[in-house]
Amino acid sequence: MKNREQWGSKIGFILAASGSAVGLGNIWKYPHMAGENGGAAFTVVYLLCILLVGLPIVIAEFVIGRKTQLSPVGAFKTLAPNTNWKFVGVLGVCAAFVILSFYGVVGGWTLRYAMLSLSGGFMDFSGNPELAGQQFKSFISNPINPVFWQIAFMALTIMVIIKGVKGGIEKWAKIMMPAILFILVLLMVRGLTLPNGSMALEFLFKPKFGDLNASSVVLALGHAFFTLSLGMGTMITYGSYLKRDQNLLSSALWVILLDTLIAIMAGVAIFATVFALGANPDSGPGLIFVALPTMFPQIAGGILWGSLFFFLLFMAALTSAISILEVITAYFIDEKEWSREKATVIFGSIVTLVGIFCSMSMGGFNDFNTIFNISFFDFLDYLSSKYMLPIGGMLTALFILLKWGVNDFIKELITGMKNKNLEPNLVKALFIISALVVGFIITNEVIAILTGNPIIG
Ligand code: PHE
Repeated sequence: MKNREQWGSKIGFILAASGSAVGLGNIWKYPHMAGENGGAAFTVVYLLCILLVGLPIVIAEFVIGRKTQLSPVGAFKTLAPNTNWKFVGVLGVCAAFVILSFYGVVGGWTLRYAMLSLSGGFMDFSGNPELAGQQFKSFISNPINPVFWQIAFMALTIMVIIKGVKGGIEKWAKIMMPAILFILVLLMVRGLTLPNGSMALEFLFKPKFGDLNASSVVLALGHAFFTLSLGMGTMITYGSYLKRDQNLLSSALWVILLDTLIAIMAGVAIFATVFALGANPDSGPGLIFVALPTMFPQIAGGILWGSLFFFLLFMAALTSAISILEVITAYFIDEKEWSREKATVIFGSIVTLVGIFCSMSMGGFNDFNTIFNISFFDFLDYLSSKYMLPIGGMLTALFILLKWGVNDFIKELITGMKNKNLEPNLVKALFIISALVVGFIITNEVIAILTGNPIIG
């Protein structure tokens, strides 16, 4: 086997993995989901899902990757030769295609909005949500303009991946992650010092459980997978570039901590601005691209704050897109012995092409508009976050319980750890809980779709 690429440092790996986790999920999706589902009540359930279901599966993926030194398909093939478990890896590669197609589109929007803010383009939107909404709609439904930005975003993703694990992914994570944290702290302080800004804290941290319903629980669970990049082998792939001296438990805790912290900080920064300007916290997905551009011009230094915010969103999206494309690239390197350059350029381009259809489904080209009555764009988002990722994660937990064995799993996990006392029954219990929770929620969804009568919800 060829010499496999490796991370240059322990911290480089942690930054790259948290770069994957921190993305549109944290800054775009989480705040509007919390806004629409009771604020703090949603946050509590989300945190529970992250700890109970997310943490064990992040660790599982790291361990599988490092043990086999292979990306998902090869990893499952090595640990369970001649079985169907390799299809968990195949499902992951498919999910990567699906997610990156729409992720690249929104990535393009972030780049466009960063430029728009820089050039003072938000000024007209000041306090005028109708105009901001109209302009956003006409931008995303334009057949050419968003495609241009999407191609630019995907080209940047490809350029980073071509440079390899250490020289591309790790190098850029080390630059962009600290920048993201720094900008977010600035924006949070800026938001909280606005009059009424601190109402955001109450909104996000003081739970009113009456606001919570079963469908927000389903949403929180799916989102836990999406935000931690779980269930499609991203963390297996990143884990496969590790040496055996890395402490995987503490690395996983770092990734979860950074991901959660950044989501909550983004929530605080955004809702502080929302409350300061008396806007509505539950304005949905348009919160970022419609509501915020009307608010920045109303605060001092608005051009700067607006540009910083969208630049932050762009960097977060880029480090995640990189990790998604890397799953596909690594598959073709490991399994088909392609060169990194060839795999990245060919599949980066194919995903971009699918993304173009996705962008056009926003109204630019009506023939591609709908599948099952929702836009192609929403369909891909729905398919991946609601089904592919949770199912992939559940199968990963089942794989450890039923095939690989908890003892062998623990043997690999404690390599690189100082404290080697892990109670196998506790580990087993954690995986059983995550598999059961996900299994129940997916069954509930399927029953809801088939009969219209979910068990809960
Ligand atoms: N975790 C990323 C986000 O929150 C999205 C992602 C999903 C990245 C799956 C990789 C794999 O935006």
